[in-house]
Amino acid sequence: MTDIQELLLSRIRDVADYPEPGVMFKDITPLLADPQAFTALTDTLSQLAVRNGATKIVGLEARGFILGAPVAVRAGVGFIPVRKAGKLPGATLSQAYDLEYGSAEIEVHAEDLAAGDRVMVIDDVLATGGTAEASLQLVRRAGADVAGVAVLMELGFLGGRARLEPALGGAPLDALLQV
Ligand code: PRP
Repeated sequence: MTDIQELLLSRIRDVADYPEPGVMFKDITPLLADPQAFTALTDTLSQLAVRNGATKIVGLEARGFILGAPVAVRAGVGFIPVRKAGKLPGATLSQAYDLEYGSAEIEVHAEDLAAGDRVMVIDDVLATGGTAEASLQLVRRAGADVAGVAVLMELGFLGGRARLEPALGGAPLDALLQV
């Protein structure tokens, strides 16, 4: 493990039985409150964005906003929020996806993505991969190209990487930590 990985991991708090019994929640608020760790995270993600040739950053509500926005500023590209359904005021593209029980829907402003854009999706956690997969489907439906996906943590036992593979279409999935 690198020094940066050790620093990031040390600032993530495990919260047992949240938001429901049996779930170990990964709380990143200690990391966000530590300027050295938050800067290291933002720098690392923005280096990946530059490496991937991203021209836009998509952040996934809500923690993907916190990580994606400084990365976009750092990389010198625009930031596009992908929100839960019903939160964006303009014309949207929507994408539904399956959860363990039921389904969810995310949206993006249609005018924010277009052909010629190379989009990198940023979020805190890749779990089942459903949210990230739906975001890549939005990117492609808008006519934009996928530059990659980067997350702070991958919960490998949930199989998100395999689920995401078709939607990635060969673009890289980077996870800074495996937990
Ligand atoms: C969490 C996390 C990711 C998503 C990962 O967000 O921040 O966006 O779930 O799960 P998946 O890979 O199984 O789709 P959450 O839905 O809790 O939303 P929030 O950040 O608004 O609380």
